[in-house]
Order: sequence, then C-alpha cells, then structure tokens
Amino acid sequence: LSQIEIKLSDIPEGKNVTFKWRGKPLFVRHRTPKEIEVEAGVNMAELRDPQHDLDRVKKPKWMIVLGVCTHLGCVPIANAGDYGGYYCPCHGSHYDASGRIRKGPAPANLEVPFYEFPDEDTVIVG
Ligand code: FES
Repeated sequence: LSQIEIKLSDIPEGKNVTFKWRGKPLFVRHRTPKEIEVEAGVNMAELRDPQHDLDRVKKPKWMIVLGVCTHLGCVPIANAGDYGGYYCPCHGSHYDASGRIRKGPAPANLEVPFYEFPDEDTVIVG
C-alpha cells in the first residue's frame, strides 16, 4: 500500500507507535506538552542537521518520521537515548523528540514523510 491511514486517538500521549509503511517502520509519536516545549526551544546552533521543530511537524502534538537510522538503517528505539527521543543501538546514535540527530555517527535527522490530517483524528501518510 502506498498510503497508510492512522487513527490518532489510539495513540496515548507520551507514546510512540511503530507502523509499517512501504516496507519501512514509520514512527508516530504523541508528544507531551513538555516535549513540545523542549523541542521548539532547541538552539539551532547545537544541531548537526539544523531544522527547527516547527519545520518538521504539522501539528506540534504529532511527530511523524521514518524509523530508519540515517547512519546505516537500523531501527531506533523509542523513548531512549540522551535526548529523550530515540536511540539507535547499532552504533549509538541519539535522536531527540523531533527525530533530529543529536549525538553519534548518524549524519542526518530522521526523515519526515509526506502526510496530511484529513480530520482531527486521522493522519494519512504517503
Ligand atoms: Fe544507527 Fe549506525 S545504524 S547508529
């Protein structure tokens, strides 16, 4: 399937759910108010692949990225690592709760796919 439709009310606040989309893991994270605040406030100068959080999300509550480490393609673990987002166990890359690379060998942020919200409770990716 080229598109996936996800019901957002099934994902509790603070949780990351992994879906399969086009043969790859897709992360949908329901961020907490604290995570939203922290990620929006990150200093761009600290980032290896500088992108503002608001350029990576359409609604701050929902972070949607491919769960594919940009180093060599392992699947990062959610809610782990030094930045509260994701940790890739293969070679130790740490991502934040915006999916941005913060530490370790990965060169780039987790990829944001195309998606849209047809209504309040649905996202369609692809
Ligand atoms: Fe993730 Fe190497 S594949 S750190």
